[in-house]
This record gives sequence, structure tokens and C-alpha cells, in this order.
Amino acid sequence: YSNEELYRPNFHFTPKKAWMNDPNGMFYYNGYYHLYFQHYPDSTVWGPMHWGHAISTDMVTWTEKPIAIYPDEKGYIFSGSAIVDLQNTSGFGSLKNPPIVAMFTYHDPIKEKANAPGIQSQGIAYSLDEGLTWTKYKNNPVIEFPSIKDFRDPKMIWDNIHKQWLMVLAAGDKTMFYASKNLKDWELLSDFGKNIGAHGGVWECPDFFPMLVEDSEEYKWVLLLSINPGGPNGGSATQYFVGDFDGKTFKLDESFSKDINQQKGLWIDYGRDNYAGVTWSNISETDGRKLFMGWMSNWDYANKVPTEKWRSSMTMARELKLIKEDNHYRITSHPVKELQNYVSKTIKKETLKIKDKKTVLIDKSLVDLSKLDIQFTLKNLKKDVYTFSFSNGSNNTISFGINKKENYFFIDRRKSGDLSFSDVFAKQISKAPFTEDFNEMNVRVIVDKTSIEVFYNDGKTVMTEIFFPEKPMETFNVTKENFEFTIENLTINQLNFN
Ligand code: FRU
Repeated sequence: YSNEELYRPNFHFTPKKAWMNDPNGMFYYNGYYHLYFQHYPDSTVWGPMHWGHAISTDMVTWTEKPIAIYPDEKGYIFSGSAIVDLQNTSGFGSLKNPPIVAMFTYHDPIKEKANAPGIQSQGIAYSLDEGLTWTKYKNNPVIEFPSIKDFRDPKMIWDNIHKQWLMVLAAGDKTMFYASKNLKDWELLSDFGKNIGAHGGVWECPDFFPMLVEDSEEYKWVLLLSINPGGPNGGSATQYFVGDFDGKTFKLDESFSKDINQQKGLWIDYGRDNYAGVTWSNISETDGRKLFMGWMSNWDYANKVPTEKWRSSMTMARELKLIKEDNHYRITSHPVKELQNYVSKTIKKETLKIKDKKTVLIDKSLVDLSKLDIQFTLKNLKKDVYTFSFSNGSNNTISFGINKKENYFFIDRRKSGDLSFSDVFAKQISKAPFTEDFNEMNVRVIVDKTSIEVFYNDGKTVMTEIFFPEKPMETFNVTKENFEFTIENLTINQLNFN
């Protein structure tokens, strides 16, 4: 095995070659999910940004397309979004062939070097061939704000409640909201976020949309907000806010405000490797899902991970839901249901009483442990530590679990394989604090060759991390310290992508 084959995921999107970071411009149209991404095609480290492109009919298997947007004399093409302009409000297309309109940040490296004002501004481009090729608007940039240095990552949505195009972008320590009628002229509405939520680093890659609270008629507005550094386990991470929006101003919900003060922020993912995630636009109302994908890396070490020809992958596409329990709003995450179509074999165990310190749950004689979707329910949990581990014969282990003594979920990659490329990759275990007590819960785990995504408690707490084992994992075990407990409905789904 070359390292390439050892580390390239079986089913998470990676560019064929070279560098990738944030997902960009995601929209759905005519049967295809489009994914653009921050891309530097000439190197495996970050550089002059382009938008790479891939398409999929199910958000699980992807086909890479030619580079969509190239940098030009106005600068690099940083992160942004795309919408389908069905009513042709921009005039770039026609009602018969509606234009896809993208907005991205121009980052001017010459102004940056000179420390001149106006380093970042927003430009637009349109596509009349379903996102394959793009024409930049001749009057770019459409939004400037020379006095703000960090001014980027515009995310547009059609605000069907107030009947306007809406855009949110990140401006250092706050977000700014804009509205438009034609996607070219944008009016500043308000800003949000100074002294609210986590501010350990610069704000980046926001997303903003209304969501129906599950099993109710109530809707709330949700703001996703990535920050770097300042994540709950160091480096980059994405927090979220729940509140109300009157068409101009976003106001945090009062109970949610208390929750984030108590919890030091609420996070889409507490693992180290889910950053800059945003949602797909133009999902039909009959589908209605909020579909999300993040970059499965962290600026703490993204440029150094031990892959040679390509760098970084995306998370599994996820459905987000908004729930309300005892007046607490929470976003939950769920692997998209399309993943089920790839199950090639299922192994089930109904009830397992775990009495021994260590129990093997499955090994490589029955499944390939580098493409699994595992689900189970835990019962009779006491004040103990429950550790689930994937291991191989080279003493590499990636573990996750529940520490009921100290009230947190965790992922531990401190012995997961190659750690040599970075001092901070696996300095400590990653933790997610409990937000409630429990003695039973369900868990879902999506495992690829080099990543693990753990969804605890119906997706209320998520942890995603990458790892680089010397050879594929061979066993899946559980250990506990003291008390007997029960695993119910253990379902091990073998996934197959051929
Ligand atoms: C987030 C980010 C964005 C920026 C892009 C540049 O990871 O820093 O704020 O637009 O990456 O590649």
C-alpha cells in the first residue's frame, strides 16, 4: 500500500489531487447536489484559492468536475455560496433557464501585502449550464467595506418569509446581514454577535436560515458560525445560535442565550474535524431537509496531515434538525438517509450484557472495518467509563465513548497511528460536556478508513475526527471499568461503494 491508498477515504469526498478546504456554493438542481470547495490545484498546501466542483445524485458518492471559478486580477476566490435564481431576478438568465448565482469573497493578496484597506470584498458570478461554467459579473465587487479587514464568506438564501434575498457574512467578531432584490445591489440590514457566543478567534463561514421546530408549528432562525481558533477542543469549530429574525435583525432566543452562557457555546460538532460547514440551497419544499456538510479538518494541522497527492476530505452529508426539549433548543445532526442505500450486509445482536472488562464486538473476519455504519443503544449506564475502540495489529487505536464519572463524551486518537506531523493533532482527548443526565442513550458511528463520526443521543452531541493508522483497523471492542451494562440492538452495517 502506498500512503495514498491507505489514507484516502472509502466514501468521504476528497479532491483527486491537491489542496481542499471549505465546502462552498452548495445547491441542488435538476437531480444533482452540487458541491464546490476551496481548492488550490497546484499544491497540497493552501494557496491562491479557486472553487473546485463535484456533483452527486445522493450526497454520498461524488464525481469531480473541472475547476469552476478561477482567481483573477481582483484576487483569490474565497468561500461563498450559490443559489438558483428561479425568477431570474438578476436578469442573468431567463425564466426558462434560470441562472445559478454565486457570491464569493475576493481576497486581494497585493492589498494584503501592502496592508491596504479593502483586502476583502464580495463578487458574484453566474452559470447558465447548471453550475459547470461561470461568468463573473462585470461590475464586481458588489459589496465593499474597506474599513473592515475580515469581511468574507457570504451565504445567500431566499428568505421566503420576508420575500427577499438575504445574505450573511462574517466580519471579524460579528456577522452582517444584507438584503437584495436582484442579487446585485445589496442593502446592509444589521449586524449580530459582538460579545455574544464564543469569540476565541475570528468569525468565518456563517449560514442563516429558518427551521421548523420538530413536531411543532413553531419556527426559529438558526445561525451557524465557524470560528478559528477557539473551538471547544482547540482550533477550528462551528457554533450555532437560535433566535428570531424580523426580516432585518436577528435576536437571540432568551432561553438559548442562557444555555450558551452556561455551556460556553453550543457546537454543531465537538470533535476537532468539522469546520466551515454550511447547508445546501434550493432544496425543494417537498423534501424540506436542511442538508449540511463540513470540511473534515482543522486549521491547527490541516496543511500537514500525512497525505501526499491530495489533502483533506469533507464530512458525511448530514441532515440538521431543530428540537425543543423543556424549553431548550438544540440542533441535532443525522447522516443523510441516502447512506442506507449502500448497506451491503447487516449483522445484528439484540441484547449483549457486557460483564467483562473488555469485549470484542466484531472483527475483520466478518466485516471490513473501514466502511461501517454502526448503531446501538446503551442501557444501565452508571458512574463509569465506557470506551469503544477500533484497533489493529500495529497497536493503533481510535476510541470514543462516555465518561459518566466526569460527565463528558469523548474521542481519543492519541494512539491512532501517525501523529508525527503535528504537536497538537493528538495532544489530548477531545471532550463534549453532557447537557443533561441519562442512564441510557443511542449511538451511531460512521467509520471510514481515516475518519470517525459519532452521533450521541439522537444526534444531539456529535464528534468528528480524522486519524492515520499504519494499517486498517481489525477489531471493534468495548471496555468498561466497574459496572455491568447492556448494549441493545447493536446493528453493524457494512457499506459498499463499488
Ligand atoms: C475558513 C476560511 C474562510 C476563507 C477560506 C479561505 O476556513 O478561512 O474564512 O474564505 O477559508 O480559503
